[in-house]
Amino acid sequence: MARLLILDSGVGGLSVYHEIHKRLPDLKVDYALDNEAYPYGNKDETWLSKRVVNWCQLLIARYEPDIIVLACNTASTATLPALRAAISIPIVGVVPAIKTAAQISSSKNIGLLATPGTVTRRYTQELINDFAKDCQVTKVGAHHLVHIAEDKLQGITVDMPLLASEIAPLLENNVDTVVLGCTHYPLLRAELQQLAPHINWVDSGEAIARRVESLLQNHKGFDYSKDMSLSSTAPISEALKTYLQSLGFNHFDLINVPENG
Ligand code: DGL
Repeated sequence: MARLLILDSGVGGLSVYHEIHKRLPDLKVDYALDNEAYPYGNKDETWLSKRVVNWCQLLIARYEPDIIVLACNTASTATLPALRAAISIPIVGVVPAIKTAAQISSSKNIGLLATPGTVTRRYTQELINDFAKDCQVTKVGAHHLVHIAEDKLQGITVDMPLLASEIAPLLENNVDTVVLGCTHYPLLRAELQQLAPHINWVDSGEAIARRVESLLQNHKGFDYSKDMSLSSTAPISEALKTYLQSLGFNHFDLINVPENG
């Protein structure tokens, strides 16, 4: 039976999990978060690439997944080629939905809201060159959004003025469409829409769910047991544990990733 493993530095991959769950409500999914190295957004690209490859190898040995979703733009834009060279099972990367944004924007004036790492990647610039040649693209590397999303899932009130200051450059440049180029950000969609209802906030979640569905068609059956595991690289708070249990993640494992050597 096919097993699916979703990975992120933190809870951002849950936005992708929610989209997969909408399409395949009974599918069992395991989730891994690298909270010891969180946040990924400020890490050196080479360091991050090594870290994710090491971590993935440990996770594969532990969970034997058939498909991995690297539900993190920061890691995917840094590490997909290295990961695919090191690991033979299918890896679905999550990268900014630049193509979709360029297609739906009527003003051809779009924004990319992502982590400081993602906005500076060569991979990201190539996506812009390939798919948004006819657009003006305002790139914003946000420093607080990921933490605001993490806090929200632990019951902490969203700091709306801070959120507003993060997206201010996009509003100043009058963009009509913004790529949420970090999987944490769709967890703040309601608040972003409240601040800027005229903007199309675009993310990759639904496309990833469709891709997973199509890859799963090659497998004989899915694991539909309700028994989902969560693995972290450092202890998680009780508030987060309670939230994750409410989603059906009932087994908690701690995986120790050795320092990059
Ligand atoms: N969720 C991750 C992404 O999609 C990044 C969060 C972090 O900085 O750790 O980019």
